[in-house]
Amino acid sequence: MTEKVIIFDTSLRDGEQALQASLSVKEKLQIAMALERMKIDVIEVGFPISSPGDFESVRTISNHIKSSQICSLARCVDKDIDVAAEAMSVLDNFRIHIFLGTSNLHIQSKLRKSFDEIISMAVHSIKRAKRYTNNIEFSCEDAGRTSIDNLCRIVEKAISSGATTINIPDTVGYTTPNQFSNIISSLYQKVPNIDQSIISVHCHDDLGMAVANSISAISAGARQVEGTINGIGERAGNAALEEIIMAIKARKDLLNVHTTIENKEIYRTSKIISQLCNIPIPSNKAIVGSNAFAHSSGIHQDGVLKNRKNYEIISPKTIGLKEVALNLTSRSGRAAVKHRMQMMGYKDSEYDINELYVSFLKLADKKGQVFDYDLEALAFINNKQEDPEHFRLEYFNVQSSSTGLATSSVTLICGKLIITKSATTSNGPIDSVYQSLNKISGYSIILQKFQLFAKGKGKDALGQVDILVEYQHRKFHGVGLATDIIESSVKAMVNVFNNIWRANQVMLKLQKNIL
Ligand code: KIV
Ligand code: ZN
Repeated sequence: MTEKVIIFDTSLRDGEQALQASLSVKEKLQIAMALERMKIDVIEVGFPISSPGDFESVRTISNHIKSSQICSLARCVDKDIDVAAEAMSVLDNFRIHIFLGTSNLHIQSKLRKSFDEIISMAVHSIKRAKRYTNNIEFSCEDAGRTSIDNLCRIVEKAISSGATTINIPDTVGYTTPNQFSNIISSLYQKVPNIDQSIISVHCHDDLGMAVANSISAISAGARQVEGTINGIGERAGNAALEEIIMAIKARKDLLNVHTTIENKEIYRTSKIISQLCNIPIPSNKAIVGSNAFAHSSGIHQDGVLKNRKNYEIISPKTIGLKEVALNLTSRSGRAAVKHRMQMMGYKDSEYDINELYVSFLKLADKKGQVFDYDLEALAFINNKQEDPEHFRLEYFNVQSSSTGLATSSVTLICGKLIITKSATTSNGPIDSVYQSLNKISGYSIILQKFQLFAKGKGKDALGQVDILVEYQHRKFHGVGLATDIIESSVKAMVNVFNNIWRANQVMLKLQKNIL
């Protein structure tokens, strides 16, 4: 059996301290619960001395989390340590994480102490923490820029005073992978009692090397890695844990270690954290970006269809992603179009792939991404673009208030009929107009994505609304553009209705076998 690497998550401490708006106790608990489901070994849940709110959230989380170990941060200050212990006192086993700057820069220009004084402070604080727990982590802040001799001295003292985990942070993301692994190797060579503690690393991403540095430290013997989900954190962020976890899994041949993380929870946890912290995930972000498993070029799509391993080193299922998109764009080949039709349940004999592919390319050039319903329309109804719209917006009116209560009335022309419906809801004007619209169409849809973009600048900008809905287990996309964002929202939904209507027409025709 290979050795285990302990995964230490600090999204709620290092990650949270960098957010524009701090999280509520409830939101922090939601995140902690997601991390627990992911089987994170140690969750650093806050810095209790920093504010009453932080103390409260550490206490609440300590009351709820059962299987991950809970840890709180403290400076080398007695009060910090006492308050951290108090916030976690409900637990039998908790970790106090003490940190102190060790680089010349930090000790001279921030702490204004000699290195001997720094060692005394560390020893004193570790001993104070021992009053409360034997589970003590000591961090040498700015270790990446600390001389190796000083680092070895303080690490040895911290271990002999009772620290069970020694953390080596690259606080300002300054080191390179080789340099950082040399620091870890030197500690193993030079610190006589090193085997009595676990060596941890905590890398920041200022030069984009946080994950690479963490992985190189594992190769040199580190057995705990610290980071955050989606890499959130101070400045450029911390090492992204999902990347480290999947690198350990995908490259076990090279790294020879394992984690006990439930990797199928990665995708969900990443989404929860992105949403609650209001930090969008870049589409090309490794592991969790929306494009991380999407294949766009024709050559790649063809390769993936023949054998996923041609262009996928990790199965998207391993991070809990159920559906993997082959984005259909003008770069997609015939094989991808055919595959998509098969996935939708159409037999090759039911349509002409050559004709479909020609019209698909024309539409993809105009539209960018081609959706399932577009393909169906292209395959079964000639020249979809010239199809009349079944639903057309005639009129809408909406009144809303700061309480969230909104009343709307919408009139649509639906073929030969003119239908008006109204709705009152407590979730704002867009929800209200969408309910009125749903009453008109009768389609049972689930709104999955709503995005608003400004087209242009200043007060003349147009609002573009893009929505994605699920209807009868299929996805439909709609877009609406207007100066009024409620109108753009209505238009986007009417666009969806027309797409659903066309898809239904196709189905009807197929059922009647008249194509
Ligand atoms: O980056 C850092 O050095 C830290 C310490 C508190 C561990 O976050
Ligand atoms: Zn940090």
